Amino acid sequence: MAEPIAAAPAEALRFAFAERFGNAASSAPRVFRAPGRVNLIGEHTDYNDGFVMPAAINLATWTAAAPRADQRIVVVSRSFYEEAELDPAESGGPREDGHWSNFVLGVARLLRGAGFAIGGANLMIDSTVPLGSGLSSSAALEVSVALALLGVSGFEADRLEVARLAQRAEHEYAGARCGLMDQFTACFGRAGHTMLLDCQSLAYRAVPLPNSTRLVVANTMVKHELAAGEYNLRRADCEEAARLFGVPSLRAISPADFARRQGELPPAIRRRARHVITESARTVEAAAALERGDFSRLGELMAASHRSLRDDFEVSCTELDAMVGAARLDGVIGARMMGGGFGGCTITLVEAGAASEVSREMALRYHLATGLEPQMYECTAVDGAGEER
Ligand code: GLA
Repeated sequence: MAEPIAAAPAEALRFAFAERFGNAASSAPRVFRAPGRVNLIGEHTDYNDGFVMPAAINLATWTAAAPRADQRIVVVSRSFYEEAELDPAESGGPREDGHWSNFVLGVARLLRGAGFAIGGANLMIDSTVPLGSGLSSSAALEVSVALALLGVSGFEADRLEVARLAQRAEHEYAGARCGLMDQFTACFGRAGHTMLLDCQSLAYRAVPLPNSTRLVVANTMVKHELAAGEYNLRRADCEEAARLFGVPSLRAISPADFARRQGELPPAIRRRARHVITESARTVEAAAALERGDFSRLGELMAASHRSLRDDFEVSCTELDAMVGAARLDGVIGARMMGGGFGGCTITLVEAGAASEVSREMALRYHLATGLEPQMYECTAVDGAGEER
């Protein structure tokens, strides 16, 4: 059954913040929310300057923040039941153990580097985005922390600058050379809509999600160790393909160019490039199909996306394949793996009336196939990040 999604924990967070940091009116925190995201189609295309079709969802990260008299950042994570003290004025890189506070440190240092003279702050963070499951928990964390640090230091930053800075924090402090999709969606999502985003120009068009549909997210509950390293390797393969074609990025190669020139690439690199180039084209076509209500075409495109990620890009795994297989049910419009791959979640677009039945049946079939208990979420598309008043 779909998990009920917890109500915004902003109030609980204010309360816990007062318990930890004192409840003088002068130290009352401001609370900033940044959402996780789904991606209907357009996977591993963002860092190739291609198209993606994400939506911000009602699973989010909240950061409560109040200024401190000194320059330090004291941050409590309610997800990890842990507190850390950071000094963004000190130089040096991230902690080597991959600690969660690296994201906070990275955002704080990069904000300072970009000329925002942010002061010390007490922060408390809580999240309903399942961690590391392909729903962009890290982008939600980075963006909510960035808005909180800017907010309590009296700065208003341009949203695109926040998204770019959060992406850099991921590159430099978490070691993942991600594209901009996740951070962009956390900043620019729109309630009730997905968006067709051109990752080259960053132009986007909001595409309404019909009321007659629901987004079912299925967490396979596995995360294979490979994920981080393999992501950067896939990105390197794509860059190699672009280099061999003599273009700045794979965006410059159309499916027709690829058909003609694919012999110029060695087999493994050719498969990676074929995924990226066809996936970007599928994404543009999927947006048009959604706009004209052609669900049958949309479903075919999502299925083709999954096959291409599995066979050409090689980022799926048995559990993701099992979950997508489990979604062959009445009322399902389309299903595919989502995010970086090697575990995490799938996305299934479902006719509204069938959503709870589909989600129950998928969970059952997945359990029978793998022995694992999946977590199912019925998500809605929400607005991008902002302050909770
Ligand atoms: C991760 C990255 C994104 C994107 C997806 C794959 O979520 O953070 O930038 O590359 O993987 O589409």
